[in-house]
Amino acid sequence: MAETTETGCPVLHFEFAPAATPGERFFDQLDEIRRDHPIFRSDEAQGYWVFTRNDIIMDALQDPETFSSAATVPTIPDPPYAWIPIMLDPPLHTRWRQLLGGWFSPGRTGTLEGTIRERCASLIAGLKPKGGCDFVADFASQFPTVIFLAIMGLPVDELERFMAWEDKILHFDTETDPDYSQMIAAMDQVRAFMGELITTRRADPSTRGDDLISAAIDWEIDGAPIPDEDLQSCLLLLFMAGLDTVASQLSYMFHHLATVPADREKLVADPSLIPGAVEEMLRAFTIVRLGRKVTKDVEFHGAALKAGDMVAMPLAFASRDEDAYTDATGVDLDRGVFRNLAFGGGPHRCLGSHLARKELVVALEEWHRIIPEYTVPAGEEPLEHSGNGVYGYDSLPLSWSV
Ligand code: HEM
Repeated sequence: MAETTETGCPVLHFEFAPAATPGERFFDQLDEIRRDHPIFRSDEAQGYWVFTRNDIIMDALQDPETFSSAATVPTIPDPPYAWIPIMLDPPLHTRWRQLLGGWFSPGRTGTLEGTIRERCASLIAGLKPKGGCDFVADFASQFPTVIFLAIMGLPVDELERFMAWEDKILHFDTETDPDYSQMIAAMDQVRAFMGELITTRRADPSTRGDDLISAAIDWEIDGAPIPDEDLQSCLLLLFMAGLDTVASQLSYMFHHLATVPADREKLVADPSLIPGAVEEMLRAFTIVRLGRKVTKDVEFHGAALKAGDMVAMPLAFASRDEDAYTDATGVDLDRGVFRNLAFGGGPHRCLGSHLARKELVVALEEWHRIIPEYTVPAGEEPLEHSGNGVYGYDSLPLSWSV
């Protein structure tokens, strides 16, 4: 039952990063809330606004003057960190996007397709004779990490080290890491590792290649060199933004295809449907949850926002809004509608969306070519997680005949 504030806005108990409940899915819980509440207040932490409608979220994302990215987790209004570029506002944010943009353009991403496909196929071929795997640990988490190493110009034999850091940073839990000290230590290690690479490549031009780090050491903003600390922050952000997102997105897509055989069979019979299917599943299973900080007192879609207020926008609210899409909460591989907010909107719209799409499409193509039939073993219903700003499955057991 919702209480009501003096402005008439309901107050609900809503958690930004809730624990999973066996037998329930996060997306279904969000659908239920959205139907009655376009905007409400959560009573979590210091309290924050939650926007749930597609048009309201779109308006907020396109207005960085009112909705600042200086704080992106609604329960942390004054973060002691500033990741670049995701926590910058224009105009400085625009400068960074100009520097980074070319590295993630469709053209550049296209040149990586061979590496992406080769690495993907070799991971799947290694799994096939086993007759089953934990899809998340054995495939979805490893695949994007290898591509990240290629973009950064790092050898694949660094994979294990990066996987260990990734695990500590992105998959921390409060039981084993109650004060986040392991997570923070792993972030410091990634930053230090990036710092060493920057120093080496600056000092010895023979270590430079056609990779992002080699280019970044010469970047300037408004004619001034970028401090190494900012470069490290940016490289750490790229590491965090590009890995768990792709892995979590794949976990929902493969859970759907493993449990709805008719959809899987359709893609196996006609792989040309895969790019459209990826768009539809990005929409139906939109994983990212955003936060913003309000910069001024303002009336916004009937809510009286105050400077300093925090706002939560789980993007799945927008993607599954029945006013924006017909049968929005279902999956329709023939929908043919490619506009969605899975990659956000406005100036911070995902920098890696072309790369992410390429990785997702190639993963579906190669997996179904090599392992066309698979299922979630009976009695092994996987559990979701909501860590690190994205929803996903912690693990996804799959089995197939060999
Ligand atoms: C399915 C996979 C992915 C999804 C769903 C996703 C989603 C998003 C979303 C919603 C945002 C907006 C954040 C905001 O407005 O605060 C974002 C930003 C970003 N993403 Fe992705 N992303 C994915 C993969 C990637 C990949 C592969 C990379 C490559 C490194 C990447 C790099 C970034 C960066 C750097 C930003 C910050 C952009 C900025 O602040 O201007 N993402 N992503």
